[in-house]
Amino acid sequence: MSTLLFNLFAQDSLYQGVHTALSSRLSVSEGNVDMHTFPDGESYLRVTSECDNRDAIILADLHQPNAKILPLIYLCEALREEGIKSITLLVPYLPYMRQDIQFKKGECVTSKYFAKLLSQHLDGLVTIDPHLHRYHSLNEIYSLRSVVCSANPLIADWVKQHIDNPLVVGPDSESEQWAAEAADMIGCPYIILEKTRTGDKQVAITAPGASKFAGRTPVLIDDIISTGRTMIVTSQALKAEGLSEAVCIGVHALFSEDAYEAMQDAPIASIYSCNTVNHPTNKIEIAELLADGFRKLLV
Ligand code: R5P
Repeated sequence: MSTLLFNLFAQDSLYQGVHTALSSRLSVSEGNVDMHTFPDGESYLRVTSECDNRDAIILADLHQPNAKILPLIYLCEALREEGIKSITLLVPYLPYMRQDIQFKKGECVTSKYFAKLLSQHLDGLVTIDPHLHRYHSLNEIYSLRSVVCSANPLIADWVKQHIDNPLVVGPDSESEQWAAEAADMIGCPYIILEKTRTGDKQVAITAPGASKFAGRTPVLIDDIISTGRTMIVTSQALKAEGLSEAVCIGVHALFSEDAYEAMQDAPIASIYSCNTVNHPTNKIEIAELLADGFRKLLV
């Protein structure tokens, strides 16, 4: 029997892309679930596909996770009751990864609790560039089979095709892991800046030595664009060092609150993202990457 692919909140184009990519190597059928939100906000779900003894893949957009996590868990429970053998979550953007430590006594380390919750319901998980900062691997918090895909080769290809004379800029020490690799793939220099964050929207960046790259196009690469302040302040710091307006590339385009508008007022020439989270800046297609990640999970 074919594997059932369910769509939980994912953009249709991404769902179709993943479906097509998986179907070239695997027998996949659309998994059907009726979903409804009652007037009081509670969820109704009904699985209408024949599930007995089949495997299921759930492609889920979990950006803004709080309202989505319960329907996901209900779907997993219902699939098990209907006889599904295994459930793999394809989650292009894995939320709740940034609170990875207790900064103050009593704080919830939500990354751990979220991982524990998902691990109880899933057999496998495939994601793209989760925010691994103090954790080195998802295995430190997730107890299931997981595959982490990197969008870096896609980003590097995209930069090679569209940006002349680039300089890859990593806004903080965490970004060195992908900035250095991307620069190597592109064949251009890179610099890593120093960032201090004192609040959600309070970010300070210093760009010592950046002036020697004046003449190159700064390409800021980061895993997440959330408030946009990292990109804004970085582009300002580079401008102050004599560089031109920046090209900003984020893997996960969260663009919380006024982020996108605020970025328009900064010395930023253009903004691009991968389609892990639906946004007008989506230019870099991740469907094949995600499908490849699923194939790796099967090996
Ligand atoms: C930092 O830890 C991440 O890699 C990103 O730099 C950060 O999440 C970006 O956030 P914002 O857009 O709010 O500055």
